[in-house]
Amino acid sequence: MTRETDGKKDCWIVTGGAGFIGSNFVRRIRTMDRARVVTFDRLTYAGNLANLDDLKNDPGHIFVRGDIRDRQAVADLFSRYQPAGLFHFAAESHVDRSIENPEAFIETNVTGTFVLLDEALRYLKGPGAQRGFRFLHVSTDEVYGSLSPTDPPFTERTPYAPNSPYAASKAASDHLARAYVHTYGLPLVTTNCSNNYGPWQFPEKLIPTVILAALEGRAIPVYGEGLNIRDWIFVEDHCDGVVAAFERGTLGETYALGAGNPRTNREVISAIVEILDRIHPAPGGDSYRALVTSVPDRPGHDLRYEIDASRARTELSWKPAHTFSQALEKTVRWYLGNRAWWTELRTRYDGSRQGTGRQKEPGGER
Ligand SMILES: NC(=O)c1ccc[n+]([C@@H]2O[C@H](COP(=O)([O-])OP(=O)(O)OC[C@H]3O[C@@H](n4cnc5c(N)ncnc54)[C@H](O)[C@@H]3O)[C@@H](O)[C@H]2O)c1
Repeated sequence: MTRETDGKKDCWIVTGGAGFIGSNFVRRIRTMDRARVVTFDRLTYAGNLANLDDLKNDPGHIFVRGDIRDRQAVADLFSRYQPAGLFHFAAESHVDRSIENPEAFIETNVTGTFVLLDEALRYLKGPGAQRGFRFLHVSTDEVYGSLSPTDPPFTERTPYAPNSPYAASKAASDHLARAYVHTYGLPLVTTNCSNNYGPWQFPEKLIPTVILAALEGRAIPVYGEGLNIRDWIFVEDHCDGVVAAFERGTLGETYALGAGNPRTNREVISAIVEILDRIHPAPGGDSYRALVTSVPDRPGHDLRYEIDASRARTELSWKPAHTFSQALEKTVRWYLGNRAWWTELRTRYDGSRQGTGRQKEPGGER
């Protein structure tokens, strides 16, 4: 991955392409040979080159280590690769970490996004116009705040009401993106997606936390009563939605992406336990269910997120291809088959949280 990308296909820059969703996205684009890809990633605790290991010998992909806050590095990236698209996944993404250390979230999610938008605009005044350049800003449904049990699901028209520092920093980045469209005409589309799951998800998030705790015979932590509801989407479906928004989305618009799979945390944990009991029974023969343990809730924990993705379905001709039960089992099997990947990461992850006062955490949905 150290040589220049070659060939006549468009070049797409993917920020955060060594993270969970970004690496799934890069793999998908390269598997379809849809574009040449330059992954630009700072490799924070959440970024991992092992996520892109299978692309090591792909001449259509290169990796550039860099920080989206570094204006010169971003300017060099545009001028060197002259992309037709930029897919902005890079972020500090974990809500619990944003509660402990909000500053990193403001720096990367707000300032970093600002630098990308500003440099994209500069590029557009030069070679970017000939390349038909577009910016795809990847965001989250957390910007809409929390739903009560009876509220209708979020749509693109739901007012912003972010509750955590993470959600507030993503909301700020969405507002900057919108302002660059309206003030300067930057050709940009935003997607706001619900909770993702799938292979290569960092072990601090809910689904890998549950799988790994079960496999190691440790307590499976659940926040409070486990009644928080999230609308779970398989990561590949999200990636396809991002491509659809890039290719068919109306410039300046936003698209809410979700799979229509609302589940309480308890239901998600039960589904994982059922799969593990069936395909990988515990050595003593007991159900993994016995390991489920309630822990104190996250401060300000949003109760419910759910997406109405009708606009994306109609205007982008996109819909999720996976059912929750099939894709969850695929995900569990992936973690069973990739122990080396998560063992190495868990060592680094535990180290990266030293000094935060919270050595282990329950596994936030994000
Ligand atoms: N995970 C979800 O459920 C979910 C849902 C909706 C939207 N999103 C959004 O999707 C994007 C990706 O999420 P994820 O779960 O894959 O996150 P992740 O934490 O797994 O990956 C983030 C990546 O960004 C990189 N990065 C962080 N700061 C950087 C910087 N300053 N410069 C360059 N690279 C930097 C990290 O090294 C890492 O590779 C984020 O923007 C997130 O807000 C995530």
